Amino acid sequence: MEALEAIRTRRSIRRFKPGDIPREHLETIVDAGRLAASGNNVQPWDFIVVTERATIAEFKVTEAWVAQASAVIAVVIDPATRWWVEDGAAAIENMLLAAAALGYGACWVEGDLLPYEDMVKSLLGVPAAKRLMALIPVGVPAVIPKPKKRPLQDVLHWERY
Ligand SMILES: Cc1cc2nc3c(=O)[nH]c(=O)nc-3n(C[C@H](O)[C@H](O)[C@H](O)COP(=O)(O)O)c2cc1C
Repeated sequence: MEALEAIRTRRSIRRFKPGDIPREHLETIVDAGRLAASGNNVQPWDFIVVTERATIAEFKVTEAWVAQASAVIAVVIDPATRWWVEDGAAAIENMLLAAAALGYGACWVEGDLLPYEDMVKSLLGVPAAKRLMALIPVGVPAVIPKPKKRPLQDVLHWERY
């Protein structure tokens, strides 16, 4: 899928069809995260791809539907770096777009993860000094929502606000 089409059609998917995702597709998605822009090119990220059903089932504490994903990518960031929030966000969005380009659905799960960050860090063996910024459940979409987006003319300003 072409890049602009992936940007236009990407949606947060929270309902998945069952089935496995080929390993090379998961690698392609993580590679898109690896290639994201980062402040000073520090690349303060690591990505854990979880495909074992028993581990994915544990993620239901964040949101029950997350346990239905075919795979979950955990985004680990080094908070000792200067632009870790922006860097992590850039990597996450790249992976959401790569998943969409490959025909998968994914979702940025951060808000629902926060209260369980320590529990999920311990489940995945994430070092104490690192932050678990988001989980990205990935799978074949079963339901594609259509959230309202602000129209271009509302957000685009030419020359001055
Ligand atoms: C920083 C951030 C945190 C988010 N956390 C969650 C979350 O915890 N659970 C969830 O279901 N969706 C989460 N989302 C997805 C948003 O709800 C979603 O992007 C928004 O509703 C717009 O829908 P769209 O992604 O389909 O365009 C998060 C998105 C962002 C950018």
